[in-house]
Amino acid sequence: MKVFTTRVIPEEGLALLQRAGITVTQWSDLTEIPAKERIAKCKESDAMLFAGGQKIDRAFMEQCRHLKVISLLSVGYDNVDLKAATELGLQITNTPGVLSNATADSAFLLMQAVARKAFFHHKRILKGEWGFSTPTANLGVDIEGKTLGIWGLGNIGTVMAKRCRAAFGMKIIYNNRHRNEAAEKDLDATFVSFDELLQQSDVISVHTSLTPDTKEKFNAAAFSKMKPSAIFINAARGGVHNEKDLIAALQTGQIWGAGLDVTNPEPMNADNPLLEMPTVAVLPHIGSATIETRNAMSRIAAANVIAALNGKPVPNPVNH
Ligand code: DGY
Repeated sequence: MKVFTTRVIPEEGLALLQRAGITVTQWSDLTEIPAKERIAKCKESDAMLFAGGQKIDRAFMEQCRHLKVISLLSVGYDNVDLKAATELGLQITNTPGVLSNATADSAFLLMQAVARKAFFHHKRILKGEWGFSTPTANLGVDIEGKTLGIWGLGNIGTVMAKRCRAAFGMKIIYNNRHRNEAAEKDLDATFVSFDELLQQSDVISVHTSLTPDTKEKFNAAAFSKMKPSAIFINAARGGVHNEKDLIAALQTGQIWGAGLDVTNPEPMNADNPLLEMPTVAVLPHIGSATIETRNAMSRIAAANVIAALNGKPVPNPVNH
């Protein structure tokens, strides 16, 4: 049996595959595998393990009729045409659960980085501007006791809410497709409408998946309803916000700051005005990028491949 991985995967997942007698070939180049090469690889493999957000569309999958499974090294699967995969009988799997803490931690980090202008101060130091602080210049804001609005209170959103409540005694409000009664009880969280979330939150943290319903939901209309002191955090998918509208909202003072682990588009250009704003912090989609988490994800992705190749039910199916 042969598996092809579109990136070099962590050692623990690799070892599991090899111990199961599977021959692993990896794309070791740092650049993304070109489309032609990807098709050639899928034709000679029994399984593919995908890392990164490369589009997996019908045209590609139609050429991979020999594949038994596409195992994603991610929880998100918005890059996959699931309907086509199901129609073509191709199993798609993902790696839920194990990355919730690390991803929520990146949102938590960004919230504090924005509140204290941390990335801006770091840039000042690099420019030799250490001595320019005065008691009234370049001030941040406190987070203690403020209201956190979570958009998408699933696994990752719940960890973010827990962290913010424990560390800063934040009041938790949320908007979700469904009520989350466990969180309402454990975190004293209050369900509000989307508009109420916009109007009442001091910090809004996005933890939803990207779907036609959530696409660019944070746009000019949404930003205009937020507090001028509000901080917008997105560690989910860049497509959930409209980047031009976000830039305008920050430039005109409609909102105070933004912390992004995901951008729209990705990668963000180095000349993006967001990177020059003191109350903005941007990370290059590294939410799950810790040694422990990436190893755990690779173990799960490998287990999904091994099950599929042995004709067993996969532990983490995305389609059925
Ligand atoms: C995920 O797992 O979905 C992360 O965002 C990586 O893409």
